[in-house]
Amino acid sequence: MEALKGRDFLSMADLKRGELQSLLDLAAHLKAGSFNPRHPKVLGLLFYKASTRTRVSFSVAMYQLGGQVIDLNPSSTQVGRGEPLVDTARILGRYLDVLAIRTFAQQDLEIFARYANIPVINALSDLEHPCQILADLLTIQERFRELAGLTLSYVGDGNNVAHSLLLGCALVGMNIRVATPAEHQPLSAVVQQAEAIAAGRTEVLVTTDPTLAVKGTQVVYTDVWASMGQENLASDRIPVFQPYQVNEELLDLADPGAIVLHCLPAHRGEEITDAVIEGPASCVWDQAENRLHAQKALLASLLD
Ligand code: CP
Ligand code: NVA
Repeated sequence: MEALKGRDFLSMADLKRGELQSLLDLAAHLKAGSFNPRHPKVLGLLFYKASTRTRVSFSVAMYQLGGQVIDLNPSSTQVGRGEPLVDTARILGRYLDVLAIRTFAQQDLEIFARYANIPVINALSDLEHPCQILADLLTIQERFRELAGLTLSYVGDGNNVAHSLLLGCALVGMNIRVATPAEHQPLSAVVQQAEAIAAGRTEVLVTTDPTLAVKGTQVVYTDVWASMGQENLASDRIPVFQPYQVNEELLDLADPGAIVLHCLPAHRGEEITDAVIEGPASCVWDQAENRLHAQKALLASLLD
């Protein structure tokens, strides 16, 4: 084609007739994949909530796999101005190879999964945080070698992280006990799903008693008492959740070799004490690092 190298393109009139036709021909050629067929795979990050670990670990994982990342901040893309999700999904699927979304409603993820025609990853919703649990299970496996037969106690709010832990533990043959205030228990549909996976082979216990949950377990896990989007409820929740704080007294009930996990960010002095998160049982930094390794495996597997 006639090269345009070094020229500006500010108006259609900057192109001569022959140059325009050459460009169209080149575009068709590129679309057919005949130029640079080994282009790097591209991950899009569409995050409606704040993130440090998930955003950075997904980005680094993609770079280390030889791919590229585009940050699709909703406040600077049209979806943040109300472009329908179904339209955005169809368009992003035409550009990207894989899309990770952090949002509120699980239904939004399902819309993207249905319309984008590329793999869509839940990077946290109000219902689940499955990528976190991949890293958690990797961390537990590193410490105990075998996952099957271990017991994990989750103490705190029965929402996204608890839901994914219920399902993940049941899948790998771990027992799980979830202790929450009565009005903050995990959704019964998720508990039933975990029970169906466990099929009576492993324990799935939901209780309001944190001591019952933690007694003799190998892994003690907690998360914030007010998740993203619930910040206005935080102060009302503190007295309700206080008995569910992971402190040294509660940890003493666990197995002597128990480890402590927290997905982070942590609110020290609320769901976990400074002494516990900084103490010898804490594996939270390895757990956070494992986000990178677990998600790299996920991306490699999805993109094959
Ligand atoms: N645990 C977790 O998902 O952390 P971020 O919110 O920082 O991504
Ligand atoms: N439950 C927390 C997890 C943060 C990683 C939230 O949804 O904000």
